[in-house]
Amino acid sequence: DSSSPKGPFVPTQADYQKVYDAIAARLANETDYDDGSYGPVLVRLAWHASGTYDKETGTGGSNGATMRFAPESDHGANAGLKTARDFLEPIKAQFPWISYSDLWTLGGACAIQELSGPTIPWRPGREDRDVAACTPDGRLPDAAKDHRHIRDVFSRMGFDDREMVALIGAHALGRCHTDRSGFDGPWNFSPTVFSNEFFRLLAEEKWAQKKWNGPTQFTDKTTGTLMMLPTDMALLKDKGFKKHVERYAKDSDVFFKEFSDVFVKLLELGVPFKTEDRFVFKTSE
Ligand code: HEM
Repeated sequence: DSSSPKGPFVPTQADYQKVYDAIAARLANETDYDDGSYGPVLVRLAWHASGTYDKETGTGGSNGATMRFAPESDHGANAGLKTARDFLEPIKAQFPWISYSDLWTLGGACAIQELSGPTIPWRPGREDRDVAACTPDGRLPDAAKDHRHIRDVFSRMGFDDREMVALIGAHALGRCHTDRSGFDGPWNFSPTVFSNEFFRLLAEEKWAQKKWNGPTQFTDKTTGTLMMLPTDMALLKDKGFKKHVERYAKDSDVFFKEFSDVFVKLLELGVPFKTEDRFVFKTSE
């Protein structure tokens, strides 16, 4: 009966797979950027949207997508993430029914899978909020600091030592940019392939302080072209962290499994989901 009113559109897994496919296609087409992929900066957007979570107050987290607004968009830690938000705008225009907060986290999950990483089961349910829900500055980690800072910031989100180390393994992807964070360079030679290389290099290479006018960072002694942040090096100094660095350096399968679990948890912090079921998206060919 064509005269009966249609109910509200309730997207199914197939609809979200279409969004996934559109992001994956855009990643495959837009290669004229950095090392050839927007994937790493999409992962960083999903992380910075989620990593503002505070378990004591239940504030922050990916629900809300408040990084659309100043002051959060202008927080120093978020420098450069407009690139990732803009990359996803055409997807939002194509699928106006998806919230920005679902889209940004789906973008991170899609990027991990498309860059040869583990499967990231994902579920919808985030709702965009307004500027009043912006989190205060200073909730995201500062790369110039030490192991105590890492533990402070990530325990506030609700993670344990093992989870903290696994998450930071995302530094297999992408690079630092002097015009964003002040730091410079990639962590490994294949910054668009998800792998345990970050841990292997951290554990096996010799690292020296870089001689330059920029902020303190470290360079591999073998080639002088790779980098580590002070917080990355801090994972070797702390016994509770180092044992996981060594585990992940040795065993890529263990890293992939544990990273997937903790990245799923990160993207869900503070979200009042109505469904238990997660979708597993098909990766593109
Ligand atoms: C990039 C710091 C944890 C994913 C960066 C950059 C800094 C940084 C300074 C360079 C930004 C730029 O100049 O473009 C930190 C610190 C962390 C941390 C201090 C914790 C102690 C994480 C976590 C993830 C992550 C938990 C994801 C699970 C990334 C990715 C990039 C990146 C993918 C590359 C972005 C690109 O290529 O544009 N991080 N990060 N980071 N971070 Fe982290």
